[in-house]
Amino acid sequence: MKPHGSSDQTFSRDTGDLLILRQPDDWHVHLRDGGMLAFAADYTARQFARAIVMPNLDPPVTTTAAAEAYRTRILDVLPEGRRFTPLMTAYLTDDIDAEEIARGFSGGVLTACKLYPAGATTNSANGVTDVRKIWPVLERMHSIDMPLLVHGEVVSPDIDIFDREAVFLETVLAPVLEDFPGLRVVLEHITTDDSVQFVEAAGSNLAATITAHHLRIDRNAMFEGGLRPHAYCLPVAKRRRHREALRRAATSGNPKFFLGTDSAPHQKHEKESSCGCAGIFSAPTAIESYAQTFEEEDALDRLEAFASEFGPRFYGLPLNEGTVSLQRQPQNVPELMSDDHVRIVPFHAGETLRWRFNGRTDQR
Ligand code: NCD
Ligand code: ZN
Ligand code: ZN
Repeated sequence: MKPHGSSDQTFSRDTGDLLILRQPDDWHVHLRDGGMLAFAADYTARQFARAIVMPNLDPPVTTTAAAEAYRTRILDVLPEGRRFTPLMTAYLTDDIDAEEIARGFSGGVLTACKLYPAGATTNSANGVTDVRKIWPVLERMHSIDMPLLVHGEVVSPDIDIFDREAVFLETVLAPVLEDFPGLRVVLEHITTDDSVQFVEAAGSNLAATITAHHLRIDRNAMFEGGLRPHAYCLPVAKRRRHREALRRAATSGNPKFFLGTDSAPHQKHEKESSCGCAGIFSAPTAIESYAQTFEEEDALDRLEAFASEFGPRFYGLPLNEGTVSLQRQPQNVPELMSDDHVRIVPFHAGETLRWRFNGRTDQR
């Protein structure tokens, strides 16, 4: 297979049964805290060199000191010798201190800020109630070139849940980009053709992450023979035609679209409940899931750029030097993953995947 981009920096090799990629990064992940952090973090750290760690803890990460302490807790639960860099984010609130954020960014602790519209998703009660309230913070971020990451959904109960992302583009994102034309923005976990087109049409300062699960499920997955809480995440999966648009965007080679799993573990009993939590735990087989999708789209040669090049280029970070390898070998995904404190149903539970993560390697 011909490596995509054919630069001498491209590591991608496919010998049929072995796929070698420059080590990827995850540009959107929830690692949680406490017992869940201890359970979940290494699934991300073993596959990805770096990850943008979401700040929606309870209470949320809103200061540089809190981000630093959280980073230490993450590194403390990883196995000895694991090379993994958590990239920390701050959670924007109506009254967040712009100076504090700027200090955290210039001091190298914070990589970006995350905008959660209040009430949009898990632990977003302290989020922003009206984006106009944080205009001075956005102004500051714009001036220091600090990226803004957005959960792109409006929360008004009048707006149908399947339209919340599209309405956000017009009512929130467009005005932000108009007033701050150079602000680097990542529209996280996009789920619609509307978002694909919006990102394509915008300047190079707007990019988007695409999850492994939104490339594979559409909204039928939530109702297949009954109510399926493990297919429920936010933004909710949309119609099949939107999933097809995401597949086209991810495999297009357009550097504005890159990997962000949005792996979001919740306890089994908290998903299988009368008011189940939103979130899909995809970290254990993240890269295998993307590989399967790219292979189905006949675009395995574009996986490396999507997973390992476009993200760091957007964030202005160096590409990773190491590699990972995947073996073409059937992998049965367990129905349940657990330890003494945690029980989780992972993405792809009970399915057989075509690829298996083989670990890191120095081979080029
Ligand atoms: C995420 C979570 O559980 O923290 N859930 C989800 O469905 N994606 C929050 C988020 O990214 O919106
Ligand atoms: Zn989100
Ligand atoms: Zn998320």
